[in-house]
Amino acid sequence: MPQSDPNSDETFDFVVNKGNGIKGLVDAGMETVPQLYTVPIDERLEPNKIITHGSIPVIDVSDWGDPKVKQSICKAAAECGFFQIINHGVPLEVLHAVRESGHRFFGLPNEERSKYWPENSPTDTVVLTTSFAPQAETVFEWKDALTMRFGPHQYRESVPLWPPVCRDQVLEYGESAKPVVRKLMEILLKGLNVKEIDKAREYELMTASIVTINYYPRCPNPDLTAGIFPHSDSSIITVLLQDDNGGLYVRTTDGNGWIHVPPIDGAFVVNIGDMLQIMSNDKYKSIEHRVVANGSKNRVSVPVFVTPPMDAVIGPLPEAIESGEQPLYKEVVCVDYFRHHFGKKHDGKKSLEFARI
Ligand code: OGA
Ligand code: NI
Repeated sequence: MPQSDPNSDETFDFVVNKGNGIKGLVDAGMETVPQLYTVPIDERLEPNKIITHGSIPVIDVSDWGDPKVKQSICKAAAECGFFQIINHGVPLEVLHAVRESGHRFFGLPNEERSKYWPENSPTDTVVLTTSFAPQAETVFEWKDALTMRFGPHQYRESVPLWPPVCRDQVLEYGESAKPVVRKLMEILLKGLNVKEIDKAREYELMTASIVTINYYPRCPNPDLTAGIFPHSDSSIITVLLQDDNGGLYVRTTDGNGWIHVPPIDGAFVVNIGDMLQIMSNDKYKSIEHRVVANGSKNRVSVPVFVTPPMDAVIGPLPEAIESGEQPLYKEVVCVDYFRHHFGKKHDGKKSLEFARI
């Protein structure tokens, strides 16, 4: 059993109010998992819930035009909501550089990192946060995150205000990922009968990406904690770079187990987010996933969350329901969905209920 820690308020104060994050707590020499981070037994990822015979598809996209590639992507989106892509064209150096820049940022002294906490940050296009929704959580996630917003409103003007230790690497990574995102979206939307992505759709779907550097510091006892609790992403799609530590698990389609996503150097992990499940009227599914921190190493992952701008209105696409199906979701303004999603703790796929008819 974990030691009972009567000082959760103190931990909260140190991590959140004082702006140290979980990285600050680890740096302060914490050697046992505090109560605030101790997950109740029935919510832990017990070894008997890990399915070792399953795997998520790995798709070679060296020829995006190949009908087999398109088919595999749409099938994976419909059946498992999660897949990895290899040979996508983003150079390995760009991927490694952005991960290293994440280690550099989180390796900065607390007072340097804390310049980017929401109340201190020089621009709302960069923000450092801890856990997921600290004000709404009774148990915290073992994770800090640096989030940078790419447009559509002249983000370039605020880029000079991003942390110098990772700014160029994040920028290059975000820009390099754009053509990959575009190809994926073209293929996924074609699978929903959308003939072409016109300017209006492009604005709606692809101009407001977010790049986050997730940082899971080494954890003295990962079995007791959650790097991230089970959740689906609120994005349209997420394109994620992980490192060689592993620790990302995806819920099986029968809901009973969890499959590890094995690290493949140079691959992107792609998953369908809630917004695309809504737009596709359930043809594509967002899938729950979770992260377990590492017992000996600091883990970094760098997701690109492809999201609509805040004022976009999202609902089932006309093309996706043109054969006369009933829409399963109402139209929602993105900002309302995000407020709902980010205002509560991670809780599986519950956010989708907000939009369901
Ligand atoms: C996320 C997420 C997975 C990872 O940031 O939403 O699921 O491997 N990250 O860090
Ligand atoms: Ni996620």
